[in-house]
Amino acid sequence: MFNSEAIFLKNKKLGFIGAGNMTQHILTPLLADNILKPEQVLVSNRSAQKLQKLQDKLHITPCQSNEELLEKADIIILAIKPQDLYEALEPVLAYFEPRHEVISLAAGVSLKSLSKLFPKVNLLSRVMLSTAVKIKQAVIAYDFMKNGNFAQSADEGAFSVKALFSPLGKLLFLKGDQSFRAFTVGAGGGIALIYELMIYWQGWLKDYEITGPMAEQITQYTFLAASQMVIGDNKPMEELQQAVTSAKGVTIEALEAMRASNLEGQLHHAFEQARLKDVQLSSEFKK
Ligand SMILES: NC(=O)c1ccc[n+]([C@@H]2O[C@H](COP(=O)([O-])OP(=O)(O)OC[C@H]3O[C@@H](n4cnc5c(N)ncnc54)[C@H](OP(=O)(O)O)[C@@H]3O)[C@@H](O)[C@H]2O)c1
Repeated sequence: MFNSEAIFLKNKKLGFIGAGNMTQHILTPLLADNILKPEQVLVSNRSAQKLQKLQDKLHITPCQSNEELLEKADIIILAIKPQDLYEALEPVLAYFEPRHEVISLAAGVSLKSLSKLFPKVNLLSRVMLSTAVKIKQAVIAYDFMKNGNFAQSADEGAFSVKALFSPLGKLLFLKGDQSFRAFTVGAGGGIALIYELMIYWQGWLKDYEITGPMAEQITQYTFLAASQMVIGDNKPMEELQQAVTSAKGVTIEALEAMRASNLEGQLHHAFEQARLKDVQLSSEFKK
């Protein structure tokens, strides 16, 4: 089956530096859907064992070193932890050439600081995504620089980013480090935060003689329906909430109790803690 993404990427070699979770989450659906062919995908990794596992699973081409990967690939995807990024790149910076396009997945590492590392690279993108890429339901943010200048609109390029990531969810062109930080918390880590709520939800149901599996299903379908009912509806969230809440019913009691207990303040505090950790991680990335 051919699609526009596969056609755009057809003659490109992609090089993933890092064979960890993200690389696996991204490659599994793209290879399964024939958007990429295994022979187009090169991967290098610090430990040989993990690379071998990925090769066994996805039949990608392993590279013995990051130098080898840079020699062979056109699009370089930086899929390593922010704290390991500089150490990984420093020995191979001289191998980056204008023919390379670089896409960084590293959370908290700004485009500006990346651009200082790759002065010869013409197209440099930053992509932030959640693990929901593996079910092709992620929300994915990207920004890019072309010839050393920040892109002002999505139309200016980054076609590889669009071809690689739009099949994996909802792709959004996002500007600014502050926005990326908020996105990292709300979307990158968002699923784990929602899971925390789901754990309380099902736990409460279990307190009232609902069996474990049934409590889990009630919770899963309630969260699924809540999302599906708002997606594509352009009304404000408050209006949609009112529409499913009777003025003198049961639900309003819970809502008022939530508001009185300052749940908003507690969530705000939690989100800010995560945002500050992102600030700390980015400062650990040596420029
Ligand atoms: N996972 C997520 O949900 C998520 C979400 C948003 C963004 N991200 C971003 O995606 C990137 C990858 O995250 P991840 O979760 O996939 O991390 P991960 O599972 O820890 O994978 C990182 C991989 O990088 C390899 N590595 C480290 N130094 C290297 C070097 N010098 N050369 C080659 N490979 C090297 C590691 O090798 P070893 O085998 O030696 O450990 C490891 O396999 C990070 O920058 C992260 O911020 C991740």
